Amino acid sequence: MCGIVAYVGNKQVTSLLIEGLKRLEYRGYDSAGIAVMRTPEGATMETPGEITMCRSVGRVSVLQSRVEKEPEKYQGSLGIAHTRWATHGKVTEANAHPHIGKTKDGHTITLVHNGTIENYATLRTYLEKRGHTFYGESDTEVLTKLIAELYDGNLERTVQKTLQEITGAYAIAVICDREPHTLVAARKGSPLIIGIAEHAYIVASDQSAIVSHTTQVIHLDDYQVARLCAGPSDRKKTVVGEPWSVDFRTTTLENEEVTQEIQELELDLQEIELAGYEHYMLKEIMQQPDSIRTCLNGRIDKREGRVVLGGLTNLAKELVRARKFILTAQGTAYHAALIGEYLLEELAKIPCECEYASEFRYRNPIIEDGTVVLAVSQSGETSDTLEALREAKDRGATALGVVNVVGSTMSRETDAGVYLRVGPEIGVASTKAFIGQVTVLTMIALFVGRRRFLSKDLVSRYLDELDQVPEFVAQIVKQTDAIKACVEQVVDRDNWLFLGRGYNYPVALEGALKLKEISYIHAEGMPAAEMKHGPIALIDEGMPVVFLATQGSQYDKVISNIEEVKARGGRIIAVATEGDTNIERYTDDGFVFWVPSISEPLQPLLTTVPLQLLAYHAAQLRGLDVDKPRNLAKSVTVE
Ligand code: AGP
Repeated sequence: MCGIVAYVGNKQVTSLLIEGLKRLEYRGYDSAGIAVMRTPEGATMETPGEITMCRSVGRVSVLQSRVEKEPEKYQGSLGIAHTRWATHGKVTEANAHPHIGKTKDGHTITLVHNGTIENYATLRTYLEKRGHTFYGESDTEVLTKLIAELYDGNLERTVQKTLQEITGAYAIAVICDREPHTLVAARKGSPLIIGIAEHAYIVASDQSAIVSHTTQVIHLDDYQVARLCAGPSDRKKTVVGEPWSVDFRTTTLENEEVTQEIQELELDLQEIELAGYEHYMLKEIMQQPDSIRTCLNGRIDKREGRVVLGGLTNLAKELVRARKFILTAQGTAYHAALIGEYLLEELAKIPCECEYASEFRYRNPIIEDGTVVLAVSQSGETSDTLEALREAKDRGATALGVVNVVGSTMSRETDAGVYLRVGPEIGVASTKAFIGQVTVLTMIALFVGRRRFLSKDLVSRYLDELDQVPEFVAQIVKQTDAIKACVEQVVDRDNWLFLGRGYNYPVALEGALKLKEISYIHAEGMPAAEMKHGPIALIDEGMPVVFLATQGSQYDKVISNIEEVKARGGRIIAVATEGDTNIERYTDDGFVFWVPSISEPLQPLLTTVPLQLLAYHAAQLRGLDVDKPRNLAKSVTVE
């Protein structure tokens, strides 16, 4: 996944684009680039502009320092910019965006892209036969040169025609020096939002790069193109800041105009600031009590033992009569969905299965009448999860979404859904979104269960506990220094195991993923009983093995597993219930992280939190970039 940002309006564009890239950098940070349209003093609207470009490997800050060395080269009020997560082509300057194409009449086209062009090889051959030479390996360069090849003097029309030849996913912003006041944007399968500001338009991959300019936005739909123009109202000269005329239109690829509803962004700026924390991940872990409160707010009625989910009201009967739920997701969201499977079966007594979206979508799934597919996703843009959802819908399933980003593609393609309401998650490693997903899935299970076999009293009891979770989490995060002290003693070990049973088995998976993705330590999560079927061979002297050992129906079995590991030299780290006087006989001092007592179905909301902090401290102690781990991006919008 990459980040694109573009601007056309009445302000100097360069610093604005760099700032936008910094807000999008969590989407990918292998390389970055910018292209600015300069229009000579006294130019009319017909005077061609001149495009200046700069591209660099590494973070946006590297690009910024290069651009700031020659500010006069990057003066202009139209520009495009990009921060890359490599898909096609190595991490090199040649493969960095923006890319360039030359038209037959010598004009320059530059373009930035998020997505993958699947038929790029065929198109590249076509273009090479027509004399185009390539400087890089990327699919985006092919797309840029195809637009240049087909350019007929009208950028909007050319983009429409070109995209009819494209298979794959794209969100693009493109400019041409022959049309120095026009920005064209388009999308299919990758997110793109257009901000409507005074005298300007901002195009970006997500709202974090728009919200500091405007809260008025339109969401482009797939196969739509936007043409955005802004220029001096008297059309005689291009003095930046003079009264500016702006206009835009959105069309299909067949040039049919479509109207787009202008929506109000719900995001505000301080939600995406660090707020004094060293890392977004730490901020998002520490703010989980508040995130859970906003997720629960207005949705639970403890007295009546009811869950109020406005997004599901119209589907309540269908959900209650569902014969099967299929939960589908990737990564951390998959771990949340797996907990959702356990919750729905126990609380709603409806058969469930949880599947990796990437597997589900290709295995010709059996979707019978009464099937509800429930997609779980923080970004609402994960390509595999989106396609799995579409596959299930095409086969007749009712489609639900549990999503964080309002207005995301998934939220617009489901029949109904529930937003997490935990605010924007910037850290690449998902924390508060996971807790939000599990909170929402718990509420959905109680929402359906209450309409099936759960008594009012039992639901009231669960809701009462759920309402205490924010305070419980606030207590747990106070152990952060103790957790760091524990991790310091084992952070040099390169192989860990995470073991849990029941609701804590998916938590073991999540704990292992957290540690892997930010500290690069190899870790494996599995059901505690599974260890004896092979992985126990891995146990060597001092190997860290993290057990989810909270009080519950399988506590004694977990203790047996702990003894099996200890007998082979493993070093036990345990997450245990406050007041457990037994667990410390198996661990070293300070190797137990405590959580308050709570019913088993709600335990993941608590037991996950110490593992988030464990991973955070391990990465910190290893001197790694917690918020931007190598090779990763916040949301995988490519297959
Ligand atoms: C989480 O820590 C990872 N960054 C990753 O597994 C993520 O959960 C996964 O890519 C799914 O993303 P989504 O929730 O936006 O669909």
